[in-house]
Amino acid sequence: MPKPILRRHFLKTTGVATAALLGGPLLAACSPGGHALSAPTADPNFKPDLEVTLTATTAEAAILPGTATKVWTYRGEVVSGDPTSLMTIPNSYLGPILRLRRGQKVRITFANDLPGSEQESIIHWHGLQVPAAMDGHPRDAVGPGHTFVYEFEVTDRAGTYWFHPHPHGLTATQVNAGLAGLLIVSDDEGDATALPAGDQDVALVIQDRVFDADNQFVYGIDMMTAMMGFLGDTVLINGRAHESLGLATRAYRFRILNGSNARIYKLAWSDATPLIVLATDGGLLEAPIERSYVMLAPGERIELWVDFSGRKTGDEVKLVSQAFSGAENVGGGGMMGGHIMGGATYAPGVGAAQDLLTLRVERQEADTLSLPATLTPLARLDPTEAVNAAQPRIITITQQRMQWKLNGRGFEMDAVADDERVMAGTLELWDIVNDVNPGEMMDPLGMAHPFHIHGVQFQVIARTLRDDYPELAPGYASVNEGFIDTGWKDTVLVMPGETVRLLLRLPEQPGRFVYHCHNLEHADAGMMRNYEVQA
Ligand code: C2O
Ligand code: CU
Ligand code: CU
Repeated sequence: MPKPILRRHFLKTTGVATAALLGGPLLAACSPGGHALSAPTADPNFKPDLEVTLTATTAEAAILPGTATKVWTYRGEVVSGDPTSLMTIPNSYLGPILRLRRGQKVRITFANDLPGSEQESIIHWHGLQVPAAMDGHPRDAVGPGHTFVYEFEVTDRAGTYWFHPHPHGLTATQVNAGLAGLLIVSDDEGDATALPAGDQDVALVIQDRVFDADNQFVYGIDMMTAMMGFLGDTVLINGRAHESLGLATRAYRFRILNGSNARIYKLAWSDATPLIVLATDGGLLEAPIERSYVMLAPGERIELWVDFSGRKTGDEVKLVSQAFSGAENVGGGGMMGGHIMGGATYAPGVGAAQDLLTLRVERQEADTLSLPATLTPLARLDPTEAVNAAQPRIITITQQRMQWKLNGRGFEMDAVADDERVMAGTLELWDIVNDVNPGEMMDPLGMAHPFHIHGVQFQVIARTLRDDYPELAPGYASVNEGFIDTGWKDTVLVMPGETVRLLLRLPEQPGRFVYHCHNLEHADAGMMRNYEVQA
């Protein structure tokens, strides 16, 4: 087994309120605060079935024994409609779980109550297909003391989605401080499947953090973090450290979100039981599939069938992240050990083996559920029907002087290039090409990037690894059986040297959406672009 790579982080200890200041030098391209006046207000003609308020604010959470951790959190309140639409996770900084129903009309008022006038923010509904004006584009960010009102109809398939801040240059800081929540959509089709429900439907958010000696989050963005992404040394499950779950001898549905800023997991069971996958980002698969491990990159979700029937009380099994390679430092060290700065913290590198969660069988209970042979029908898009079938749209990921770029460009709040204009409602092929960067000082063979597109769910048509760099092959072989490409996706892991071909139906309504890397430090540093849907 490869020795885990220890990656050195150069972080300063800060309270969350000042954390963003460390990002200062990297934020030159975006000046927050200029957008507060354009925030939509409620439309009296929109009649919501559900109306909620989500307030980004400060709080404290008991994460480690001893002193509580100062966090930022979404505090939720149901204004009208089903009061069970928001479910608070006890003792967690995570926002409430927001439960929506397909066809439902929702009004959500986001209130920014963050400290520090520079902390503008906006919420993005990751995975939902909503009109551009309701999607939480960075340009819609509002400053502290301001609100933004969302009104939309839920049109998405039943599935596990999530919401998180999306202000340009500040997303990583705000998510690290605690701002994120799960969003679970239900519909008739999903209800028709005989899957575990109620207490047997378990949501798990995996994140990683660094704590100081006083139990406070340590976070800051320096050159190295912006380049590689933040890695924590402590795994948190639903915002809690050293988490374990006591379960019965029954079947469970686990909905798992990788809500980490940059860490990629290779999920497996410690006892080598295969994983049974029910769903990906955009909801249930046609049929369950079995894998010995599953890759889960930042932003991605996976749902698992976890069956404890027949196990003995006291049995334990761990959800682990297995060792893998090839996500960074491909072909060896680079200059990882070379920097010395104050307050160094060590976190395991991407690909180090880690224990995530312990499951313990606590009680014997009979269960009548068995794994369904099929789940829900899933319409297969046909690549030959794409308007650009002969010439897919190409998005190349490169690195130029320690900055990750998309087609050679960084983020520009209000710019759309000619090759970023698409026609409403058309079917397109997009090739995401993770290129090599000969001559670059760090990671010249590239890094793994979780690529995310707003406004759509897509299907993965093909993956190809270039064969002119044999050093890429071993790392790729340590992850590629863990890609679940048979369902709807909104975020896809693209390995170094890999091209992933996506097929997507563009939004029906004109508007401007972003696409970006979901390594949040990468996105904040500019690995994000607009695309424009034209009528
Ligand atoms: Cu979850 Cu634009 O992101
Ligand atoms: Cu998104
Ligand atoms: Cu990236």
